[in-house]
Amino acid sequence: MLSNFDKYQMMQELSNLPKPSEKIINHITNFYNNNKPNNASSKWFSKTQNKSINCAEGKFFVDPNLTILAYLEFYSIISDKFRPDIGILQNIFPERGPCFVPPHIDKSRSTALLFAIETGGPECTTSCYKTKHDLYIPNETIMVDYDSVEIISTTRTKPMTWYALNVQAYHSVENITDVRLLFSLSIPSLPYDLFLKKYNHLI
Ligand SMILES: [Fe+2]
Repeated sequence: MLSNFDKYQMMQELSNLPKPSEKIINHITNFYNNNKPNNASSKWFSKTQNKSINCAEGKFFVDPNLTILAYLEFYSIISDKFRPDIGILQNIFPERGPCFVPPHIDKSRSTALLFAIETGGPECTTSCYKTKHDLYIPNETIMVDYDSVEIISTTRTKPMTWYALNVQAYHSVENITDVRLLFSLSIPSLPYDLFLKKYNHLI
């Protein structure tokens, strides 16, 4: 099944999807200013990594007010069910150098639309992989070490730009030095290749 994943790109810029309004961007920025990181996800990410990987603190939040704003702006364009999320990735151990979200598959979404309000720093990249083994459980978060995957593509995401990402393939975020603040529309049940076919006009 995974061998099909390298036949098409794993991450695609959506230049025709309208940018979110100032209202949404301000809402997310205020949310970030009021939610301080703890060490929980960084510790969890670290469990499958050797000690040389500085793992990011990273979390996706659902906010009911953002859900309303996002549906008002985007449901006429994205007619599939989506979950608006606020994604915050940050380096809580800057003394260890840049940090990483190691290769993983997302649990509760098949396609993610990502809009970075803050990119995570000038060297921050998102990479996509195929596995060297057959371990693939749909909709289950599986985090693996970098030796278990083979890189297919790396993208330096531009700020304030929409991308679609195949989150049912292994993906990671590298070289986070500053906060990476995302507005995300998580699509639970439309696989990435079908999303690109259906919404080809957004590319
Ligand atoms: Fe992810």
